Amino acid sequence: MPFAHITGWGMHVPEPVLTNNDIAKMVETNDEWIRDRTGIRERRIAREHEFPSTLGVEAAIKALQVANLAPTELDLIICASSSPEYIFPSTACLIQDQLGASKAGAFDLQAACTGFIFATNMAAQAIRSGSIRNALVVGTEVLSRFVNWKDRNTCILFGDGAGAFVLQASDSPGGVLSAVMHSDGSGADSLTLLGGGSRYPASETTIHEGKHFIQMDGKEVFRFATRVMGRAVIEALEPLKMTTNDLQWIVPHQANYRIIETAARYLKMPLDKFVINVDRYGNTSTASIPIATAEALQQGKIKSGDKIVLVGFGAGLTWGAMVVEWTGPIPAKKHVHPEQYRRFARLRSFVRRAIRYIEGFFSRREL
Ligand code: UT7
Repeated sequence: MPFAHITGWGMHVPEPVLTNNDIAKMVETNDEWIRDRTGIRERRIAREHEFPSTLGVEAAIKALQVANLAPTELDLIICASSSPEYIFPSTACLIQDQLGASKAGAFDLQAACTGFIFATNMAAQAIRSGSIRNALVVGTEVLSRFVNWKDRNTCILFGDGAGAFVLQASDSPGGVLSAVMHSDGSGADSLTLLGGGSRYPASETTIHEGKHFIQMDGKEVFRFATRVMGRAVIEALEPLKMTTNDLQWIVPHQANYRIIETAARYLKMPLDKFVINVDRYGNTSTASIPIATAEALQQGKIKSGDKIVLVGFGAGLTWGAMVVEWTGPIPAKKHVHPEQYRRFARLRSFVRRAIRYIEGFFSRREL
């Protein structure tokens, strides 16, 4: 049975920065309150022409560059997003097209902020089963378009950005070692975005009632998160007969500094073993774990051979954790340039659209 290694990683955030002081001009809040209660100082906000697919593609290209893998070699693309571009088509298909990943099956996975862990686990399982060799997992968000900028309970928290992993099959031991996935739909009401689905299709009433905004019972989500995070880490370690002493790093979902502190206390681990960047990006939902991982790698914190745990929680309710032995890219003689496939991708997409148009024209004439 092959092992599923994480061989590439990348992140991309939009340039515009929104500070706590900027938010204090919109709602009754202040920098000190936000920093004390959440640890957040600033977050990134997507520009008008940026979308989950475009941010996701930037992160994916960087991940493919690290892995030294051409987009055409991908067998599978899973995109986790809490702010997908549309209900359908999937954001994963838009990413597949923009990358020119011509042979990859692509689909979205919805598990809110835990989505990236669930998606990475699904990709790893597909590799472990032997059915595929190369997968891309993307977590990407433009949550700023679903935030009610008049609601101080939520608008201080969220930010935009994307992160991606490439997973590849290898006979060498390592990579994704174990994972746990949990859900509890009885807590579905605690964190919602109700409008635009089939229960509340978009209408003047849904807009008037603010159903197209994120709504959250912050205290409830806080209690849930602090209850499940530490336990999920232990649960993922148990089948491997590992303890927290065997870990070099924990990469938690970046929602609130105080939630991470509580998890550290529960696990009796020093906070400096936790990768934390919530101060600079806020909560980027599905993108927060790959962004934090990619930054920790860039900064030389996570190294090859390290054993790390990724742990997250979110709406659903959902939560999960994953133990990974970090290996990095598979050594290769040939050097590929994934970024150069973009031009090919654009051309390929144009040609396919043109063929579809011409086929449609002639088949209409035949009818
Ligand atoms: O990916 C998962 C996404 N969600 C989360 O992880 C959220 C988890 N929850 C949280 O992070 C915290 O619950 C919040 C940061 C949202 C809120 O912090 P809190 O310590 O639970 O505050 P609170 O809701 O208990 O509010 C305390 C006070 C209230 O005033 P009163 O009733 O005590 O007079 C709020 O009205 O703080 C007030 N408040 C604010 N004040 C200034 C709430 N939001 C703000 C604000 N600025 N932005």
